[in-house]
Amino acid sequence: MRRMSLSGLVTGKVLAHSIYAPSGELLLPKGTKVNERIRLLLSKWGLSEVYVEEEESQEQPRTIKAGPIPATVNRAYRQAVDKIRQAMEGLRRGDCVPLMELGRSCSQLVMKIASEPDVLSYLHLLNYWDDYTFQHSVKVGVLATLLAQWLKMPPSEHLQVATAGVLHDLGKALVPLEILNKPGRLTTEELAVVRTHCLAGHSLLSPDFGSDSIPSRAALEHHERMDGSGYPQRLRAQDTLLTSRIVAVADVYDAMTSDRVYQPRQPGYAVLAQLQESSFSVLDPRVTQTFVEHVVQRVHGQTVRLSNGLVGQVVFVHERDPQRPIVAVGKRLIDLSRQSAIHLVGEA
Ligand SMILES: [Fe+2]
Repeated sequence: MRRMSLSGLVTGKVLAHSIYAPSGELLLPKGTKVNERIRLLLSKWGLSEVYVEEEESQEQPRTIKAGPIPATVNRAYRQAVDKIRQAMEGLRRGDCVPLMELGRSCSQLVMKIASEPDVLSYLHLLNYWDDYTFQHSVKVGVLATLLAQWLKMPPSEHLQVATAGVLHDLGKALVPLEILNKPGRLTTEELAVVRTHCLAGHSLLSPDFGSDSIPSRAALEHHERMDGSGYPQRLRAQDTLLTSRIVAVADVYDAMTSDRVYQPRQPGYAVLAQLQESSFSVLDPRVTQTFVEHVVQRVHGQTVRLSNGLVGQVVFVHERDPQRPIVAVGKRLIDLSRQSAIHLVGEA
């Protein structure tokens, strides 16, 4: 190992030692690969030097970032959103839309986005002028693809998962726009109409993909829940595809972290806590835990307000209790998991 100042620490270096908070809490484990976000955290924690492994990581940054979001990602994202929008508008008009071709081109774009380093740290920032439904489809495709990788599914299946993710809400093309985009609470009747999108998606995809194909089944099953409380068939976990359960987690996460017509986005730590809770009853626990483990890093750096009036930045999230992270207030670290009298009140 060798000592290196933060100014010389570039993406791809590997930490040769773990980094702990003064309270003894592990902040970064040995072996952490340095990226821009890790470098910022190290600097925020007041470190000027770290030890890195002699051998440099083989992984080099694949894009030169012009800003926080690589231009290649923005371009692929917009292309995918455009394709989904055109297809769904066509279906709404009753046009014949080549869905196999749509699935093929969108899943390739989605896999390209998912292969970018650190995509999870800015995925929620991707925003296009288009409607939520179209953007949501693409983001769920990206998240589902990442989950397929993290769950170590065979690479040959990743494309199917990407296709299932990006086409999961296609049936919403048949839901009236005044209901789909209604601000405020839906009536019971309106909710029942929205819920038809699962069966509608399955009917739309089946002629091209086959009624038992992964994309058709995921469109049908992504609102089913482990305990049988979902819809449309109230299926239990064992009767649904793994891909449907992957899309369910990606769907819930993106819905909660996005601004919607009837609900503003929720802070990352609150979303993680809700996912944790859901993993015991309604969402697949293995899929959810894998997801939380990877997403937990993204919440770092969020500026939050504490119940004692102080404002600080999240520097570490406990996987088991994301609502009570370690927060840096100036040079002081407050571990909320050990300070029961203080709690988070929201993003500052
Ligand atoms: Fe849906």
